[in-house]
Amino acid sequence: MRILAIETSCDETALAILTERKGFLYLEKDIVYSQVDIHKKYGGVVPEVASRKHLETIMPLLQHTLGKNKLKNIDYIAFTQGPGLVTSLVLGVATAKALGLASNKALLPINHLEGHIYSNWLTHQELQSNKINIFPSVVLVVSGGHTELILMTGHGQYKLIGKTLDDAVGEAFDKVAKLLGLGYPGGPIVSKLALMGNAHKYDFPRPMINSHNFDFSLSGLKTSILYFLEKKQKINQQDVADICAGFQLAVTEVLVKKTFLAAKKYGAKSIMLAGGVSANTFLKQNLQNNADKLAIPFFAPEMKFTGDNAAMIAAAAFYRLKNKKARLFSGDKISKLEPDANWQLVVK
Ligand code: KG4
Ligand code: ZN
Repeated sequence: MRILAIETSCDETALAILTERKGFLYLEKDIVYSQVDIHKKYGGVVPEVASRKHLETIMPLLQHTLGKNKLKNIDYIAFTQGPGLVTSLVLGVATAKALGLASNKALLPINHLEGHIYSNWLTHQELQSNKINIFPSVVLVVSGGHTELILMTGHGQYKLIGKTLDDAVGEAFDKVAKLLGLGYPGGPIVSKLALMGNAHKYDFPRPMINSHNFDFSLSGLKTSILYFLEKKQKINQQDVADICAGFQLAVTEVLVKKTFLAAKKYGAKSIMLAGGVSANTFLKQNLQNNADKLAIPFFAPEMKFTGDNAAMIAAAAFYRLKNKKARLFSGDKISKLEPDANWQLVVK
């Protein structure tokens, strides 16, 4: 089985070819073209610019990925159908449709968040070999657009335990970076500066930490930093580092506490982290430490699979096919496929 995957949900144009070798996943191709340097100067992703850039890059990348064999050895074409920016998604969807119609290969629409979850399978061979029973797994999905606690009871089987009521975690990092004049994307910058800061110098709120549910709220934390900055007026470099560290600690404490409360309540056999914020070392370490204390296996994707990529979309497609849970589209049905910008992996 050889899968071509296409991901264009935001500001990365990504393509991958995945197959299986000796019982393990094997990535023949894995290309990510990031537009981050283009959007940096605007302080965030500009949808119109992202869309044009996908249009410019997708065909050359596709030619490079497929090489001279073109689609000859490809069995399935997986693509991100949503959630994401509709103006970005549409380029990947249109490309997949054109390839499907021209080649008669079956298409597989994949949810972007499911892709992030399967970046863990790409990373850990013990998950691929099925040697340990990890289900039910409590999965913390934290990205620029989403913050969700999901109970994964099997491949392709999800229950929503909790989600953010306002900002996503990545979005909160980005907004705090903006308030501090640090540039975009904020997550990597804030976490780097936090290394030099004292996380206990300023005490920021831990919103909803004691609420008796698994939902999150992050906009109040961001606002409290805004008020703090207005009051303080002048801040030096050390203050900035201390604010970054204090903010990161506040967010991490809430995420870790709720993740492990959920693990206890649902009798989780493992904990998983997924999404762009899974690049955050402080969060990863705190989840790992807690998991070690409880002797629960903890999984996080390796750095190169934390951000948006097509390899994770291919991996999600692989397990859907393997577990006979794939929705396949071929022939006339292909023309009905459209982006689903608000596609929720699971609803409460
Ligand atoms: O999953 P992703 O690449 O795109 C979406 O699907 O949203 O996530 C991007 C988000 C951005 O908000 C970025 O600031 C955040 O992930 N991020 C981080 C770190 N690296 C990326 N947040 C905190 N710490 C990091 N090291
Ligand atoms: Zn993402």
